Amino acid sequence: MSIQLFVPNFRIEECLKEIRECLEKGWTGLGYKTIEIEEKWKEYTGLPHAHFLSSNTVGLHLALHMFKTEFDWKDGDEVISTPLTFVSSNHAILYTNMKPVFADVDEYLCLSPEDIRKKITARTKAIIYVGIGGNTGRYDEVVNVCREHGLILILDAAHMSGTRLNGKHVGHDADCTIFSFQAVKNLATADSGMICFSDKNRDERARKLCWLGINKDTYARTVTQGAYKWMYDVEEVGFKYHGNSIMAAIGLVSLRYLDRDNAYRRQLAKWYEDNLVDDELIHIVPVAKNCESSRHLFQIRVDKRDQVLMALNEYNISPGVHYRDNTEYKLYSYGAGSCPNAHSASKEILSLPMHMGVTKNEINLITNTLKQIVCL
Ligand SMILES: Cc1ncc(COP(=O)(O)O)c(C=O)c1O
Repeated sequence: MSIQLFVPNFRIEECLKEIRECLEKGWTGLGYKTIEIEEKWKEYTGLPHAHFLSSNTVGLHLALHMFKTEFDWKDGDEVISTPLTFVSSNHAILYTNMKPVFADVDEYLCLSPEDIRKKITARTKAIIYVGIGGNTGRYDEVVNVCREHGLILILDAAHMSGTRLNGKHVGHDADCTIFSFQAVKNLATADSGMICFSDKNRDERARKLCWLGINKDTYARTVTQGAYKWMYDVEEVGFKYHGNSIMAAIGLVSLRYLDRDNAYRRQLAKWYEDNLVDDELIHIVPVAKNCESSRHLFQIRVDKRDQVLMALNEYNISPGVHYRDNTEYKLYSYGAGSCPNAHSASKEILSLPMHMGVTKNEINLITNTLKQIVCL
C-alpha cells in the first residue's frame, strides 16, 4: 500500500443521512441544503455573504465577470496574478478577455507585495491572491497595496477553508473570496465551492447570475405561496454556476469536522517539521506569522526534485507538486522570465502526503526515506 498525497475522509453514514433527506424530500438541486450550507458557512467564517457554487473555478470567472461589467473594464485590461497556482486562477482572467500579468512569489510561495507594485500599470484593475496550501503569506500587505492603488482584491481561497489570520477567518478584507470544496480539499464534497462578496448588492447580483440571470430561484418560487410564483424576470445574461443540494449535503458533514481535521493536519505538519528542521538539504516552506493555516499542503523545497519524487515513488510514497510555473505552459509563455522566484520554486517544491489517514509512524517513514534520498 502506498502513502498517497491526498485521501478524502468522508463520514459516510452522516453523508448518506444528509443525502437521504434530499432524496426523500425530492429536492436535490438549488435551494434547501444549499441554503443551509450558506448559512452555516457564514456562521463559521463570520463572512457577511456566501453563495454556494458548483466549483471555485466558476466563482473566479463569475467574480471577474461581475467586476468587469460593474466598472466597465475593457478587454485587455490587466489582472495581476501568480504563476504558482492551479490554472483556474489564471484561466478565469482569460475567460473575461482580460490579461493575466504575473507577479513573483516570496518565501511563502504567495505573491510578493514588492513585485506586485512593480507590475502595476495604468491598465491594472485587480489582483488575484492565492493562499497556497492554506498559507496567508503577506496578504495584509497586499490588502494595503490594493487600497493604495484602488485595485479590486479577489482572494482565491481554494486551499483556505479554515485558515485564520490574526485569529479571524480569512476573507474579510477582500472584495470577493472564493473557496473550493472539490474532492480533495479540506472541506471535501465532489465538486463545489463558495463565493463570498463583501458587498450585499454584489451578493444579490451573484445569486441571479449563477442561475442564468433569473431573479427568483425555483426553490424560492416553490416555497412562496400565491398565484404568481411561476413569474420571474431576467435582467442580464447569467450562467448555470450554482451548487446543488447533494453536494451541499456532503459539504455540511465535512464542515462539522473542518476544525478538527485541520487541527490534525497542523499536527502532521508539526511532526514533519520536527523531523526535517535540522536537515540542511531539505527546506521547509514557512507559514506566515499570525497565520493558522488550514494546512491543505505541507511543502518543502529540495534540489533535484524530480529525482527525489521518483525515488519516493519507488518506496511507495506519492508526493505532489503545487504547482508548475504557469508561464511554462504554452498559453502563458508570454510571461516566461518575469517571475524568477516562482520559476526556481517550481523546480524544487514537493508536497508531502497530508490527509486524515496519515499517521505519526508514516511521517517518520516518509521523513527518514526522504533524508536518505536527498543525500544520494
Ligand atoms: C489554487 C486553486 N485555485 C482554484 C482551484 C479550482 O477549484 P475547483 O476545482 O473547485 O474549481 C484549485 C483547485 O485545485 C486550486 O488549487
